Amino acid sequence: MSSRLTERIQAVRRFNRFYTRRIGVLEERYLRSSFSLAEVRVLFELAHRRTSAATDLAADLGLDPGYLSRMLRAFRGRGLVSRAASPGDGRRSVLRLTARGRTVFAPLEAAARKDIAAMLGGLPSGRQDHVVESMRSIEAALDPAAVHPGQVRLRAHRPGDMGWVVSRHGALYWEEYGWDERFEALVAGIVAKFIEHLDVKRERCWIAELDGERVGSVFCVRQSDTVAKLRLLLVEPGARGHGIGSRLVNECVAFARSAGYRELVLWTNDVLVAARRIYERAGFELVGSERHTSFGKRLVGETWRRRLR
Ligand SMILES: CC(C)(COP(=O)(O)OP(=O)(O)OC[C@H]1O[C@@H](n2cnc3c(N)ncnc32)[C@H](O)[C@@H]1OP(=O)(O)O)[C@@H](O)C(=O)NCCC(=O)NCCS
Repeated sequence: MSSRLTERIQAVRRFNRFYTRRIGVLEERYLRSSFSLAEVRVLFELAHRRTSAATDLAADLGLDPGYLSRMLRAFRGRGLVSRAASPGDGRRSVLRLTARGRTVFAPLEAAARKDIAAMLGGLPSGRQDHVVESMRSIEAALDPAAVHPGQVRLRAHRPGDMGWVVSRHGALYWEEYGWDERFEALVAGIVAKFIEHLDVKRERCWIAELDGERVGSVFCVRQSDTVAKLRLLLVEPGARGHGIGSRLVNECVAFARSAGYRELVLWTNDVLVAARRIYERAGFELVGSERHTSFGKRLVGETWRRRLR
């Protein structure tokens, strides 16, 4: 085993020890209730799925079927869960929480929410964002199917968003491409101009949100009466690869067309390969490129154009 892998294993195990203690799952009775963590998790699934077959539950939660079956028997004995033949397939039986089960489960859910609120509540808002974003990155890295683009909401900008756009562009382009703070300064200039001269009928910013957290941005700004410019397309690394970038670009194209522009242009750099595929797919064509040295790097800038009528 390589020493890098050994170090990573230690780091993951250290984090697991820290976090299991922090969220109280080591307690014999979870959430100060009479249930173990696994029991609360099964009740949670039943409460949120309405009905479920025991075999599906065991597979989805990675629980031993014998252990789950003993647990469900105990729940039925306490009147928390009922079992009935599946309406679609009489040979299968489905489980659901009884009214009593729902009454018992409701305070557990409230207690779980309260505990997490207390943990996050002790942190400043920016740090809360960082924790949630990092968790999302872990989930997406270990299970790429975990982010569902359907949960993503696109909304107009509001106070606080411009600072986020500047900060995330500055940090991510530095981490991913080594572009220095002069790029962050350029972005700050673009968003300041956008806000100061905003023409609401012909210009717009979209912020993509996943579970209420910002995960992406794009801007449509006026370049001339007939030409609009797409700017500042960005998706957080943990949310990439699920069509959010494409959705932001398509939204921008549709808006530019409805706002009466004849064409939509954008400036990018050849190193931004993921964006190139999105632009091509959205009907943009490369119309020019030039070498330049900016943000501490030698780059090839590219202009792309999409006719709208
Ligand atoms: C470009 C960016 C916005 C894409 O966001 P996204 O939500 O992942 O976009 P989508 O999921 O809609 O599509 C990504 C596409 O790029 C492809 N892609 C991702 N990484 C890639 C890579 N390294 N090389 C080539 N293609 C790549 C994906 O496979 C996908 O194409 P597919 O649907 O044909 O498979 C995101 O990667 C990003 O923020 N990058 C850094 C900033 C940037 O480059 N902005 C553009 C400024 S001009």
